[in-house]
Amino acid sequence: MSGEYASEYRRAQTDPRGFWGDAAAAVAWYRTPQVVLDDSNSPFVRWFPDGMVNACYNALDRHVEDGRAEQLALIHDSPVTGARQRFTYRELRDRVARMAGALRARGIGVGDRVVIYMPMVPEAVIAMLACARLGAVHSVVFGGFAANELAVRIDDVQAKLVIAASCGIEPGRVVPYKPLLDQAIELARHKPETCIILQREQLPATMIPGRDLDWRELEAAAAPVDCVPVAATHPLYVLYTSGTTGQPKGVVRDTGGCIVSLLWSMRKVYGVAPGDVFWAASDVGWVVGHSYIVYGPLFNGNTTILYEGKPVGTPDPGAYWRVIAEYGVKVFFTAPTAFRAIKKEDSGGAYLKKYDLSGFETLFLAGERCDPDTLAWAQDRLGVPVIDHWWQTELGWPAVANCRGIELLPVVPGSPTKPVPGFVFDVLDGAGKPRPPGEIGALVLKLPLPPGTFTTLWGNDERFINAYFKTFPGYYETGDAGYIDAAGYVFVMARTDDVINVAGHRLSTGAMEEVLAAHPDVAECAVIGVADAMKGQLPLGLIVLKDGAGRDPGAVCREAIQMVRERIGPVAAFKLCIKVQRLPKTRSGKVLRGTMRSIADGEPWKAPATIDDPAILDEIGAAFSTLGYPVTR
Ligand code: COA
Ligand code: AMP
Repeated sequence: MSGEYASEYRRAQTDPRGFWGDAAAAVAWYRTPQVVLDDSNSPFVRWFPDGMVNACYNALDRHVEDGRAEQLALIHDSPVTGARQRFTYRELRDRVARMAGALRARGIGVGDRVVIYMPMVPEAVIAMLACARLGAVHSVVFGGFAANELAVRIDDVQAKLVIAASCGIEPGRVVPYKPLLDQAIELARHKPETCIILQREQLPATMIPGRDLDWRELEAAAAPVDCVPVAATHPLYVLYTSGTTGQPKGVVRDTGGCIVSLLWSMRKVYGVAPGDVFWAASDVGWVVGHSYIVYGPLFNGNTTILYEGKPVGTPDPGAYWRVIAEYGVKVFFTAPTAFRAIKKEDSGGAYLKKYDLSGFETLFLAGERCDPDTLAWAQDRLGVPVIDHWWQTELGWPAVANCRGIELLPVVPGSPTKPVPGFVFDVLDGAGKPRPPGEIGALVLKLPLPPGTFTTLWGNDERFINAYFKTFPGYYETGDAGYIDAAGYVFVMARTDDVINVAGHRLSTGAMEEVLAAHPDVAECAVIGVADAMKGQLPLGLIVLKDGAGRDPGAVCREAIQMVRERIGPVAAFKLCIKVQRLPKTRSGKVLRGTMRSIADGEPWKAPATIDDPAILDEIGAAFSTLGYPVTR
């Protein structure tokens, strides 16, 4: 109905307590909160502070009790192994309850941290929910990260226990996870007491006696346990995301806010009713996986799909259409990069025509800027609304979207549409003054942020304040630059920091620079994100060799590439590295990353007046052109 979005938005803005208090009525509480919001210690905001709740109860048990016991909760579809598994709500509840029993028997209880390092297997979901059942705090680490990144996370979160699989499966290769885990624990200062290992037949792992336990044996021997009521403000999970340095940020999500916001967003943003089939083609290691593979769809009584495969090559560019048709997916969520991969291999949509997609209603895209070409291609081929929407790990759920479940607004290519109720944006200049409509600046959100957004960074309240709330008092700094047009549409243009976006994955160039700087022959380095037609951006490293290193520059570059793969992981997709004589800098010594990025991307650029040596930019341009990057001047 016309005008519904505007009135919902207004109500959330003018009466957040009433708005979110009403939304909280959809949650199964052990103790219903009497207080909706306590923002007396902003930015440390507490939603539903006196409520008692359990996320696993809301995801599983309540549906078993309310008549959904035999409905499918989870479908695992794995083209890389050929496996397919289905779990009803009752089956999933029973397995989670037993695994929770196994964890409790190993001493895991409320507040203990459990790191989960697993590929897209049902046990990853079971492990997350088993932690939630006990009030233990899970921290899932994406499988494409290397041992060092895993170690950093184990240390920071002080994991008491790790749950891992013996291996992951990427097209064409088996990735041994267990040796990476062993190496990570060796590197970590904090040693987890126990590791529970899911042995996969593709590559069983060698177990370390006294520390490693077999998942299947434990689960078979365990007695089921009930959900443990926890405070709504109790952390449900910690999820690490890239910042500007090598030390990732441990985003903390509270339990009550997470349930209220995800339940609300399933219905109002995605327009999904209980019982519908919903699919987010991401990974449990990312926020999309937490919010919309696991928790959101299960809170809402949906059937969710866990897909262990790629958009192309497993086996062909029709893979997504097969899954949508086979399971009757109503709403599908992925990253634009996946569509670019499909479009490249099947631009005419021949694979699409093989499948009956009549039950498919909406496509949501997020994770990176959606280029208008990809949007148009998806709209033309699919004939359903294609909705770009914007959010971040910190926020936990969409902040800018076309809210399908409220009112479908006209789509404007290049814009993820309008702020979602609960999120109030401003665009500010460097001095913190609001920019007029249509003019670019820092995208910021007014405090308090709505429920489900992060409550702090794990063990680091100071970094929480400094990284997000210090530059613009009274606001949360998103780290993105953009503008809002006169009609209220938000346009997200670029990051304002050294974070880059590679295939929808958020990566820190600072972290890569730290690795390159550790190479014994590297005197100086910089990593920038350059445009890539498929992945949106790719990292490109520039290294200056130490005087007298006497090494073949090509060999050093190859070693540097290998070091990033070994220390950060293949997900960094760091494959471009060049040697330069010097880095372009201002007279005060600041590396001109932005100018180099413009040169690499073929955008107009001008040497800043403060540059110490303008000639160096010509050398940089020439070096880029050897890699095939456009150079215009
Ligand atoms: N475990 C181990 N390695 C992994 C991994 C995992 N879970 N996930 C990815 N990797 C590896 C890949 O094998 C690849 O290694 P390689 O350098 O040896 O080839 C590397 O990390 C990069 O992986 P990926 O980003 O998947 O790139 P790709 O070139 O293999 O595939 C796409 C390209 C577009 C098909 C792929 O990026 C994709 O599916 N993107 C969708 C993005 C997405 O869902 N994002 C989530 C945010 S919503
Ligand atoms: P992550 O925390 O990994 O989800 O990454 C969040 C970042 O990805 C945002 O700050 C943006 O830079 C980018 N991003 C996510 N969704 C979009 C989108 N729809 N349009 C443009 N950028 C996006």
